[in-house]
Amino acid sequence: MYDYYLGGKDNYEIDREAAEHIIGQSPNILDSARANREFLLRAVRTVVASGIRQIIDLGTGVPTSPNTHEVAREIAPETRVVYIDNDPIVAAHADARLTSTPGTDFALADARRPADILAHPAVRDRIDFAEPVALLLVAVLHFVSDEEDPAGIITTLTEPMVPGSHLVISHGTLDFHGPEEVAAEVYRKSTAALRLRGHAEIVPFFDGFTMLEPGLVRVPLWRPDGPPPDAGALAPVGVYGGVGRKTS
Ligand SMILES: C[S@@+](CC[C@H](N)C(=O)[O-])C[C@H]1O[C@@H](n2cnc3c(N)ncnc32)[C@H](O)[C@@H]1O
Repeated sequence: MYDYYLGGKDNYEIDREAAEHIIGQSPNILDSARANREFLLRAVRTVVASGIRQIIDLGTGVPTSPNTHEVAREIAPETRVVYIDNDPIVAAHADARLTSTPGTDFALADARRPADILAHPAVRDRIDFAEPVALLLVAVLHFVSDEEDPAGIITTLTEPMVPGSHLVISHGTLDFHGPEEVAAEVYRKSTAALRLRGHAEIVPFFDGFTMLEPGLVRVPLWRPDGPPPDAGALAPVGVYGGVGRKTS
């Protein structure tokens, strides 16, 4: 569905039907998806420019262009990327589009089992926890319920990371739109139930990290490449994004 929102071709009839249903109820989803992806690319450039050379991209999504490793390697060709997703369809596309490049790998694993992620051979082989790491959790935590403990997942995943590591999060929110504008019911029947969170619920996910400027903001406002977006461009976007740096 996300691939379809981004204008990709790696989607199936059933995805397109569900996506069209959501677009019908919530046309904002297209702007949110694109703005979210652009945030991911700016955040990756930022962390690599600051010296990060290894990235765990958890909740990868179906490969799109450019992918995390392509953007990172424009700045530092030696950057290693481990992609992780729990969707076998993503795994099927990963072989051709993500892991054909040396220094990249894919793990079919679930964010809700963080210890398994740390123990996965792809992570153990590619990631040197003696060096700083960037963990991307971009547009994935809103598929994790409160009972599944997203804060605990983040703590487990970032605990072995040394100071200087970075945490990149984006997260869907209802702070700007009514629930009727978000087709949560369609997600319940497809990807996973959506748990959209407010600003005050997302900020604590960065505990132990110092937020880079401008903090947790709607994704188009996070270090835009050009002039700041105007109110019209911002209005449809219901996604927060931020980047934190581990300090101790
Ligand atoms: C909206 S896409 C985001 C893709 C990419 N991170 C981006 O922002 O452009 C969400 C992805 O998270 C994956 N996902 C959802 N729940 C997950 C979980 N519990 N563990 C791992 N991946 C998950 C989905 O399969 C999907 O590929």
